[in-house]
Amino acid sequence: MGQVCRTPEWQALNEQWQEQAGITLRQRFTADPQRAERYRLHQAGILLDYSKNRIDDQTLALLLRLARAVDLEGWIERMFSGQTINTTEERAVLHTALRNRTRQPVWHNQHNVMPQIHQVLAQMADFVTRVRTGQWRGHTGQPIHHIINIGIGGSDLGPRMVCQALTPYHHPHLQTHFISNIDSSHLHQTLKHCTPANTLFIIASKTFTTQETLTNAHAARHWLITALGDETAVAHHFVAISTNSQRVTAFGIDPANQFRFWDWVGGRYSLWSAIGLPIALTIGMEHFEQLLTGAHTMDQHFRTAPLEQNMPVILALLGIWYTNFGNATSHAILPYDQNLRSLPAYLQQTDMESNGKRVTRTGELVEYTTGPILWGAAGTDGQHAFYQLIHQGTHLIPCDFIIAANSHNPLGNQHQMLLANCLAQSEALMRGKNHQEARQELEEQGIRGAALEALLPHKIFPGNVPSNTLMIDRLTPQRLGALLALYEHKIFVQGIIWQINSFDQWGVELGKQLAGVILPELLEQQSHTEHDSSTQGLITAWHQLRE
Ligand code: F6P
Repeated sequence: MGQVCRTPEWQALNEQWQEQAGITLRQRFTADPQRAERYRLHQAGILLDYSKNRIDDQTLALLLRLARAVDLEGWIERMFSGQTINTTEERAVLHTALRNRTRQPVWHNQHNVMPQIHQVLAQMADFVTRVRTGQWRGHTGQPIHHIINIGIGGSDLGPRMVCQALTPYHHPHLQTHFISNIDSSHLHQTLKHCTPANTLFIIASKTFTTQETLTNAHAARHWLITALGDETAVAHHFVAISTNSQRVTAFGIDPANQFRFWDWVGGRYSLWSAIGLPIALTIGMEHFEQLLTGAHTMDQHFRTAPLEQNMPVILALLGIWYTNFGNATSHAILPYDQNLRSLPAYLQQTDMESNGKRVTRTGELVEYTTGPILWGAAGTDGQHAFYQLIHQGTHLIPCDFIIAANSHNPLGNQHQMLLANCLAQSEALMRGKNHQEARQELEEQGIRGAALEALLPHKIFPGNVPSNTLMIDRLTPQRLGALLALYEHKIFVQGIIWQINSFDQWGVELGKQLAGVILPELLEQQSHTEHDSSTQGLITAWHQLRE
């Protein structure tokens, strides 16, 4: 079909943006009292209010036409049915099979993958029970109290974020830690809190080749053996999750302590696989399965609902509207939930590693903007940090507000205060405060004349900032599963519209290659190769500064 920006559907949206530019969100709400009801969806326990967006029925219809022009429905089916849609790595994309809670088979190369998924789930369930009940003993016969996941990227961010999000479900005597950074401070400061005899290490790496993970794993192994004085201790304190059993065995981990997953699970889509083992250990297998069920409910909705009613599709199209027609370059994720504070960091990898691409599936340079910069923080902290820029800065930043109706830890009116802040922010961003309102407010404060005129421009809020609000009843494993699947599918839809491969990540390679050249130079195993003067200067400076 050529580049999507050359299609009549794209051109129509361009014109639509220009035509609608003068209509504010405030005007849209005044003109249509039913607006909130019309632009609202309720699926998998998530209420999505998308009425505070710069859209009307015609804009939505045009966006949906664009989705159909790129054959979105066909691509959804291609993903769910195990076709090789990750073409640069020649892989299927089947993370949805990991949370398939039906008896339906899922085919990959004429082979039903469900039996092997169930086998690993059973292996996880057995292991989780043994660790959580204290049957699994360390080398000295003591039960496990500390679980340390060593992994990075998709082998870290998902499990870390989910464990934090589901804090109310934690086992009372198990503490879960995550080590990802090659910076030895991460390892050192974590091990300080753990006793070797009670510590279980999970080495999580899809490839089992990642430098950070393997280096930390070797250091952890050394720490354990030094403390317990015996190499055989490793069998009682190390398990591994990987697609690469040969390398895991070579590391010295007993095949009985290996949990498998498969190359059709992308790293950043892997928390639903055995990579979720730290989650299952922390919150119990039953709750882990509820997480899968929540995601599955969203999967079914995404696969079967008409595009007009399809929550991931609507969220994705709204993002396209601002990125490609409104020139927005970033998107803020604003969870009003302390336990979701790591959601923005998790979604950064999911979204930016997926859609941070500059060539189409067929290798042409794209002629339009692709994935936005994702960022955010838990409210209300963000309000006292960066919201100023969203309210009165010069960037257009669409926002997602996320809130649970009920707190796991109610205290006085604090949850109502949290909710009031969340709702107030989306209202303020939508409404703004116009010239007249600002003037009147200043006059009511007794400010007049030159003082008023000087202050007035600073007190005006342009408003018209679009946002979505996602509300759930409570942050349970099931709701969290649905929420994460919602974002995964949103990212998929956007990738299809941008005609890119959302499932590879070649952009992380160059830095890894160059680090491989520089390290031997720092270790002085190899004489210096040619670098640019900046890199060379920094290497020289380091040699001078090192103690
Ligand atoms: O950062 C690149 C990447 O390949 C991610 O896609 C992946 O999640 C991460 O590294 C970790 O990879 P692995 O699980 O193979 O150690």
